Amino acid sequence: MNKYTLINDDRMKLLKKLKDNSVQLIITSPPYNIGKSYEKRIPLNEYMDQQEETLIECYRVLKDKGSLCWQVGNYIDWKSNMTPLDIPIFNICNGLGLKLRNRIVWHYGHGLHSHNRFSGRYETIMWFSKSDKYTFNLDTVRVPQKYPGKLSYKGPNKGKYSGNINGKNPSDVWIIPNVKSNHKEKTIHPCQFPIELAERLILALSNKNDLVVDPYAGVGTTLCAALKNKRRSAGSEIKKKYINVAKKRIKLLKQGKLKFRPSYTPIKIAGPNSKLYRRN
Ligand SMILES: C[S@@+](CC[C@H](N)C(=O)[O-])C[C@H]1O[C@@H](n2cnc3c(N)ncnc32)[C@H](O)[C@@H]1O
Repeated sequence: MNKYTLINDDRMKLLKKLKDNSVQLIITSPPYNIGKSYEKRIPLNEYMDQQEETLIECYRVLKDKGSLCWQVGNYIDWKSNMTPLDIPIFNICNGLGLKLRNRIVWHYGHGLHSHNRFSGRYETIMWFSKSDKYTFNLDTVRVPQKYPGKLSYKGPNKGKYSGNINGKNPSDVWIIPNVKSNHKEKTIHPCQFPIELAERLILALSNKNDLVVDPYAGVGTTLCAALKNKRRSAGSEIKKKYINVAKKRIKLLKQGKLKFRPSYTPIKIAGPNSKLYRRN
């Protein structure tokens, strides 16, 4: 397994140590400033200043062929007004010269039910490249065609299969279960990534031995996905208890014992006779 660095410290401590143009891929989900157990709510403008400070360093360390993937949801202020965080993040990144390649919608099935608005069931991943010469390995992340037997009905390929034999582009809407109580990957962290989500980005946007960094590493999902796919990895996390879990997960990965939900497995739906469909 490749080497990794994981520090129990502020994200700036890690980023400042990295050389200019040394990182192929940054994948992260920063705190959203919504009062989760690992964060203290601060005014939105202060929060965005901190994000900008982080993003400036991320830009500096990224290679020209590199990418940045910032996964965020919504901030809700004291007047219950919602700010989709990808809007101010886009403005900062765009100002730095990063180029938005996709605004990926990560749709998941479970979460709290809202009483005063529609329940939130997606977050976004803003994928930016540093330049126009970015790494994009589409063939490593193709998904099965909906109609693999579909034939071309005209032109020189008439009668031949019309779709790519290796599968189709997974599109910019990703349906991946979030990590809730019964999920195989669940740890003590209240909002960890599913490994599949980080893995798809890593396969598509980096190559073996490249360096993949997560400045807000949580329980080390990005690091696990990177190491699983023979990339080098580095992360920082402010809470010791999450660092401990991350180290344990990496150890289990090394031993081939880390539990993860295999990619592209269909989402389980209760059978037609399940009691879940009935009320007595
Ligand atoms: C949304 S969670 C990331 C979860 C991660 N994607 C995973 O799969 O485990 C954000 C994490 O950032 C950490 N954090 C908050 N402020 C930080 C800072 N200044 N430097 C480093 N980590 C920080 C929090 O403790 C939290 O674990």
